[in-house]
Amino acid sequence: MNNEGNKTESSLPPGEEVTITDKEKGLLMPNEFDGIRELDNPPPRWLMYVLYLTVFFSALYWVHYHTFKQGLTQEEEYQAEMVASAAASGADTTVVVLTQLTDQASLDAGKKIFNDKLCYSCHGMLGEGNAVGPNLTDDYWIHGSSIEKVVEVLINGVPAKGMAPFKDQLTKEQILQVASYVLSLHGTNPPNAKAPQGEKAG
Ligand code: HEC
Repeated sequence: MNNEGNKTESSLPPGEEVTITDKEKGLLMPNEFDGIRELDNPPPRWLMYVLYLTVFFSALYWVHYHTFKQGLTQEEEYQAEMVASAAASGADTTVVVLTQLTDQASLDAGKKIFNDKLCYSCHGMLGEGNAVGPNLTDDYWIHGSSIEKVVEVLINGVPAKGMAPFKDQLTKEQILQVASYVLSLHGTNPPNAKAPQGEKAG
C-alpha cells in the first residue's frame, strides 16, 4: 500500500497503473489484498427499501399462512381449483372414504367372492399363497396393507405380475367385500404359508 498521489502499487504488469479518481478516493475501503483495493459502493437506497419490504412481507406471510393457518396455501388453492373445474365439467367429485367392512355378512360375501372368482387358485384356499400369488395372511405386503391399497390392487390388478384386474368382474361393493375379507385373514397363520414378500406393514 502507498499513499503517493493517485497511484497505488499493484500486481499489475509493469507499465500499467491504476488511477483512482478523487471521487473514488472517498469510497476506498481500508482493506487491500495483493494491491487489489475495494470501493465501498452500497446498493442504491431504493433497492434496499425493496429488500426491507420483502423481508417485512415474508414475516407477515409466514404468520398468516403458517402460524395462524389463515388462507389457502398454493397446494390447497390448486386442489380447490381442480375440484371447481371438475365440478364445472360435471364430473363426479365425491370423495369416497373406504372403510374396511367387519360385519360377518360382508365377510361371508367376501369369502364367497374369493371362491367364486378363483382367487384361491393363486393365493391358496386360506390365503396362504402358492407358487403364483403372495401370502395374504402375513404382515408383508407388496402393494400396501390399507383397505385403499388392497381395493386398488383389486380394481386395477397387477397385470405384469399375473394379478388380474377385477373392476369389470366385480361391483364396487363386491370389491370392498372381498378386500375386507382378505384383510380379515391377517394373522390367521394357515399351514403351508408362503414366505413373506414385499414390506412389513408398519
Ligand atoms: C391368476 C392368479 C391370480 C388370481 C386369480 C388372483 N390373484 Fe391376487 N395376486 C396375484 C399375484 C401374482 C399377485 C402379486 C402381484 C405383484 O407381485 O405385484 C397378487 C397380488 C394380490 C394382492 C396384493 C398382495 C400384496 O402383497 O400387496 C391382493 C390383495 C390380491 N392379489 C387379492 C386377490 C383377490 C381378492 C383375488 C380374487 C378376486 C385375486 N387376488 C386373484 C395373482 C392372482
